[in-house]
Amino acid sequence: MRILLIGNTGQLGWELERTLAPLGELNAFDYPTIDLADIKSIRQIFRDCQPDVLINAAAYTAVDRAEAEPELAKSINSLAPAIMAEEASNVGSAFIHFSTDYVYDGLKGTPYIESDLPNPLSVYGQTKFAGEQAVQQLGGAYLILRTSWVYSMRRDNFVNKVLGWARTHARLKLVTDQISGPTWARMLAEVSSQLIMLGRDDLFGWFTEHQGLYHLAGSGYCSRFEWGKQVLQLDPHKEQQIIDELVPALTAEFPSPARRPLLSALNCDHFFQTFPLHLPDWKIALKFAMEIA
Ligand SMILES: NC(=O)c1ccc[n+]([C@@H]2O[C@H](COP(=O)([O-])OP(=O)(O)OC[C@H]3O[C@@H](n4cnc5c(N)ncnc54)[C@H](OP(=O)(O)O)[C@@H]3O)[C@@H](O)[C@H]2O)c1
Repeated sequence: MRILLIGNTGQLGWELERTLAPLGELNAFDYPTIDLADIKSIRQIFRDCQPDVLINAAAYTAVDRAEAEPELAKSINSLAPAIMAEEASNVGSAFIHFSTDYVYDGLKGTPYIESDLPNPLSVYGQTKFAGEQAVQQLGGAYLILRTSWVYSMRRDNFVNKVLGWARTHARLKLVTDQISGPTWARMLAEVSSQLIMLGRDDLFGWFTEHQGLYHLAGSGYCSRFEWGKQVLQLDPHKEQQIIDELVPALTAEFPSPARRPLLSALNCDHFFQTFPLHLPDWKIALKFAMEIA
């Protein structure tokens, strides 16, 4: 099986490179070897690799910066997935693409199901939604996995930020009104690789049969305050913490360029009922992740 992974130095891509490696001949690329803002470089890498399956873990994920760079975010998040879907169709390749809970406005009041109408509040959310639509319109053998609050023990993310703040601040404010499902990149990578294994006998046929958009995030949901509190409790190096007060706060206290949805948790029942796979409760996954911190 020839596997093409794009975005292998990102949080999810780094884990995917490790879970995909045992499955076949893996080619993994990231910027600048491939530049998703350059259509020619996408087409070239596709033709060089002729993959049986393409996994796109690359994206423009700087939510606030995207407000000032909408065209670049659009190229990477909307146009590039469309080109990938087209190339995948042309060579008969299966395609896994990832999207975000930020396609929703967060006003529903309960976790979102796939048929709920997106209404993104930010450039990031809008461009990711447009990317989903482009992949869907082209059809073919694709799975779009919409996920939320991805973290790993590498790179810049909420978990590492909280660990860092706890070592430099005595008092930390975290918001109680942003609510979603923390998702450990390693487990998302494991499940994505297992999907490929499920379809390995006829990847194109199996992906075509299961084609569609699925919510896939850590089970359960919480506020950023609860998430941060759990991170502090599970910190294996608590002796380095100087924090003595964790203070509940509201999003309105922290003005930022991009608006974020408040309750954007994803209901993942459709995925869990369709495939014999599961993502455990977010607290269990966080415990596993923190044990390797
Ligand atoms: N992070 C979250 O909380 C979250 C939540 C929901 C959904 N998602 C989705 O999950 C997927 C993976 O996210 P992640 O957190 O793993 O993202 P990430 O850590 O920010 O990684 C994104 C990757 O894309 C690469 N990239 C950016 N611009 C590129 C370009 N022009 N050409 C080629 N590669 C480029 C980055 O390379 P550089 O490192 O060189 O910039 C990086 O390797 C994305 O589709 C994202 O939208 C993420």
